[in-house]
Amino acid sequence: MLKGKTIILGVSGSIAAYKAASLASMLVKQHAQVQVIMTANGQYFVHPVTFEQLTGRKCLTDTFDRNFEFKVEHVSLAKEADLAIIAPATANVLAKLACGIADDMLTTTMLACTCPKLAAPAMNTRMYENPATQRNLETLRRDGWEIIEPASGHLACGDDGKGKLPEEKLLMEHILRACALPHDLAGKKVLVTAGPTQESIDPVRFITNHSSGKMGYAIARMAALRGAKVTLVSGPVALDPPPFAELVPIVSAADMFREVTERAPQQDFIIKAAAVADYRPASVNDEKTKKAEEEWLLPLARTQDILQYLGEHKREGQILCGFAMETSELEERAREKLGRKNLDLIAANSLRVEGAGFGTDTNVLTLIDRERTEHLEIMSKEAAAMRLLDRLVEISAEKTKERTE
Ligand code: CTP
Repeated sequence: MLKGKTIILGVSGSIAAYKAASLASMLVKQHAQVQVIMTANGQYFVHPVTFEQLTGRKCLTDTFDRNFEFKVEHVSLAKEADLAIIAPATANVLAKLACGIADDMLTTTMLACTCPKLAAPAMNTRMYENPATQRNLETLRRDGWEIIEPASGHLACGDDGKGKLPEEKLLMEHILRACALPHDLAGKKVLVTAGPTQESIDPVRFITNHSSGKMGYAIARMAALRGAKVTLVSGPVALDPPPFAELVPIVSAADMFREVTERAPQQDFIIKAAAVADYRPASVNDEKTKKAEEEWLLPLARTQDILQYLGEHKREGQILCGFAMETSELEERAREKLGRKNLDLIAANSLRVEGAGFGTDTNVLTLIDRERTEHLEIMSKEAAAMRLLDRLVEISAEKTKERTE
């Protein structure tokens, strides 16, 4: 996702500097050009050679360091950068940046940078909570810096509290959100549903399905990286929630109905990727059902069709997208659902196609709207999520144009 991007990674003097090495490696794997700049104290914790090996570029440590050519390096680097991140950022570096002090290569370069700038503070809790540090962070926010909130936990000094550098994976998500994708969903509210529902039989047993939630989680993540305000209403899954989405955990179809319909009127886009149970046990036993010799026939009652309800209550300009999983006659059935449920788009996939369906990391989607059908090839669920969002953004623009004409 970072192909063609140049990223400055500033490393200052905190024990968390070791995490910057794996962040540098992750950035390189995403095809970014990574230029590491270390402060003098940063070099006590990790040797510059580590970063040089990982990035294939000289690690800059001195204001008068040169990389490839004899240019004014801090200025030319600042011009070249698509994003700068200081991780870890010490109280001292933050204070210098807040005051505009430029007394080494890192602070000098930051002063010349106009690209998005991120700082991930890492220090002892008392230092972090000190009014001077908080004041400096506030100044930096006002100056346009994105401050990544430190995590809480056991700190290297032995104290417990706030001040840990967040995990590299989370730092990476901040970087991706800041510079990887166009923010064409900025200011938009997107609600995504994901995962299965569980319908209780008794306190021990339930009915569910094979949905892993991966497709819905990928859509929520990508929408957030494209700038949307995302709400993810999710059934029980074994996935980490995407960092920038509000997670609303639910269990049953009735829970999902309640949580989704309450939030629906405020949404610009609703994408229903969840595999909602169509049936639930007609009654739930309070006690565990004891086994008997004869067959157990379980009467089932219909759950409410959430998507149908959303289609009936769709407000003007709102975009509604459903999913259809079929085992035969994919396109015909999906197109019929599109009309019947008043949808703008339906993403159909077949359980019979290799690489599509439950649990896989890939999907093979057919995107069907009122005018056209687009067959996508097999791709990662993230890539499929991007294509789906592209179509929804297009449909939304077309609808806005129609309304204003
Ligand atoms: N869905 C829903 N509420 C339900 C059942 C399904 O909102 N109670 C949504 C799913 O989230 C999905 C879409 O409806 O976006 C398709 O679900 P599916 O069960 O495949 O479609 P149905 O319309 O129920 O049709 P059928 O059972 O005939 O396949």
